[in-house]
Amino acid sequence: MSASREHFSSRLGFILAAAGSAVGIGNLVGFPVSATKNGGGAFLVVYALFVAFICLPVMMAEMAMGRHAQKDPLGSYRLLSNNHNGWRKAGWLAVLTPFMIAVFYMVITVWIFGYLVQTSIGNLDLLAKPEHFGSFINQTSVFIYMALVGLIINLILVGGVKEGIEKASKILMPALFVLLIALVGYVLTLDNAMAGVKYYVVPDFSKLDASVLNGALSQAFFSLSLGMGILMTYASYISKKDDIVGAAKMVAVTDSLVAFIAGLMVLPAIFSFNPETDPTQLSDSSVSMIFVYLPKILLALQADIGYVGASMVAFIFFLLVFFAAITSLVSIIEVPTATLIEEKCISRKKALGILSLTMGVLTVLCTLSFGMVEWLTNFTTYGSGNKSLFDVVYDVFYDTILPLNGLLVCLFVMYRWKKSELSKELSLGSDNYQGSFMERYVNFSLSTFIPVILLAIFINTVATKFF
Ligand code: PFF
Repeated sequence: MSASREHFSSRLGFILAAAGSAVGIGNLVGFPVSATKNGGGAFLVVYALFVAFICLPVMMAEMAMGRHAQKDPLGSYRLLSNNHNGWRKAGWLAVLTPFMIAVFYMVITVWIFGYLVQTSIGNLDLLAKPEHFGSFINQTSVFIYMALVGLIINLILVGGVKEGIEKASKILMPALFVLLIALVGYVLTLDNAMAGVKYYVVPDFSKLDASVLNGALSQAFFSLSLGMGILMTYASYISKKDDIVGAAKMVAVTDSLVAFIAGLMVLPAIFSFNPETDPTQLSDSSVSMIFVYLPKILLALQADIGYVGASMVAFIFFLLVFFAAITSLVSIIEVPTATLIEEKCISRKKALGILSLTMGVLTVLCTLSFGMVEWLTNFTTYGSGNKSLFDVVYDVFYDTILPLNGLLVCLFVMYRWKKSELSKELSLGSDNYQGSFMERYVNFSLSTFIPVILLAIFINTVATKFF
């Protein structure tokens, strides 16, 4: 362990930072909508089972690797495999993936920031116009918002682990929770709110077909920030005395709880303003829900409680989503940052400078691929047709490589690093882990059915997306 390596000041700091990574844009809108469309309470039960029985072991494996190696993902794979050529490539993939996912996530965070600024000046009428979103994402002002978001992220990351990431998480996560509860409290008082709650929680098991199950698992996987090298990197900043098993459980519970509570904010709001809503018609995409559908609801609220009240609710909503997005972005950019610092032996400032430049260029190119520049907009063709550069980044790294990275973690931990090493690492700080049911389950699942499921998702995605 290098003496200069920074660490979180406490286990709570680590849990808040990891939960900050996990709670993101998908939790707040995407999760509630897909739950409602895909069986309500039945989806909630299946999702919870996937989190507990499939995602949690993978999360513990990632954390154990990072904490044991005390290195970035590339360094971890290299150290724990004795510099094996093939596994080093898995390490590279574990760094390239977050780099690219950060690009597409940055594009969306910039839009959220733009909407936040607009709601702060009470522009609800404008935001709710059907054509507004399409024109907003093609305005040059997005580049100003991009520069500001980049600045905020850099200001947090330049502070390092304790003074940057941990401090920001300790402020933003509780603030996010308070804002969420305040909005839920308010929305539940609206007329017809209970119709939304009913759609959200009443189970319909007939909806649970193979594609819903696949979607639920992919969503749980993404939501917990798995396969991105994030948990490996964050866990490399905790001490050997900390209990990884307990921390992983806390992160999984917090993330799922926030996703569940978000449903109590979004669905009552939808049903209150449009009691005739057919939930099956709601868009699957968080993006169109956040930027097209919800502004209309917020405008309807204006007729009810007036301009100032509605603008305030809108502002709080976008602030909430923005906080969630920032803590996720910080976590994902920390992965290539840590890798550059450790692999190239450069300062944090220099690493952030290099990443701001390279990611900045890619983010600009992706932003231009929504219509501003023709060749980026019609970048290539595969699967369902023409794809923009943004689509390619999303399809390749988010949809396809993420489960592959998860699969590689399982195979690596079980068959290269070995079960006994994983068990030893997980039992540090957790007295009753060795010999427990949990230990047997983690070892069994990671070496058998979890990699099989992740492989099936990977093959299915490649077959349906690209051919
Ligand atoms: N759990 C995050 C989310 O649901 O939004 C996943 C994530 C995505 C983390 C993108 C970090 C990130 F940059």
